[in-house]
Amino acid sequence: MLTMIFACDLDNAIGKNGDLPWRQSTDLQHFKQITIGGTIVMGRKTWDSLPGVLPNRRHLVMSRNNLDAVETITFDGVLKLSETDEIFIIGGGEIYSLFLPHADKIHRTIIHCKVNNADTYAPMIDYEEFIVKNSKFVEKSARDDHDMTFELLVRID
Ligand SMILES: NC(=O)c1ccc[n+]([C@@H]2O[C@H](COP(=O)([O-])OP(=O)(O)OC[C@H]3O[C@@H](n4cnc5c(N)ncnc54)[C@H](OP(=O)(O)O)[C@@H]3O)[C@@H](O)[C@H]2O)c1
Repeated sequence: MLTMIFACDLDNAIGKNGDLPWRQSTDLQHFKQITIGGTIVMGRKTWDSLPGVLPNRRHLVMSRNNLDAVETITFDGVLKLSETDEIFIIGGGEIYSLFLPHADKIHRTIIHCKVNNADTYAPMIDYEEFIVKNSKFVEKSARDDHDMTFELLVRID
C-alpha cells in the first residue's frame, strides 16, 4: 500500500526556500498521528529540511548520491516494499510527482492561504483517478497560521 501525505495551499504550493511555508501545529499533529509506527519515504531535500529524526518511524531517503547516517532506497525498492507494507510518501515535490501514479491513498491537508513566491508544488490530482472520501474543515488554533481542511482521497478502482 502506497500512501501519500502532504499539506498544500489553495494553489497547491507545498514549500518555499527549502522549508514549509507556514506554522501549522495542528497539521503536524495530524501527520504524526497518521505516520507514527510506520515507514516514511522522502527525498533528500526534505530529509535535509527536517530538524532531526522523527520518533518511532523508519526513515527511508531517496538520493542519487551516497548518504551517511540514514537508510536510503531506490524508486523500485519503494514499490517492492509497498507490496507488503504500508509506505508513507512524505515529500517533497519531486518525490510526490514520482509516486502519484502509484499511490493508493492520499492524505491531503488544504491550508487555507495563498503562499507568496512559493517554489515547490504538489502534482495535480486527477479526479478521474481519485475520489475525495473524507473532508473535514478545522479552524486554526492559537498555534496555527491558517484554517485547514483534512482530506482523504482514494484511488478509484
Ligand atoms: N507541505 C508539505 O506537505 C511538504 C512535505 C515535504 C516537503 N515539503 C517541502 O518540499 C520542499 C522540498 O521538495 P523538493 O521537490 O525540492 O525536493 P525533495 O523531493 O524533497 O527531494 C529531491 C531530491 O530527491 C532525490 N531524488 C529525486 N528523484 C529521485 C530518484 N528518482 N531516485 C533517487 N533520488 C531521487 C534527489 O536527491 P539528491 O539531490 O541527493 O540526488 C533530489 O534532489 C521543501 O520546501 C520542503 O519543506 C513540503
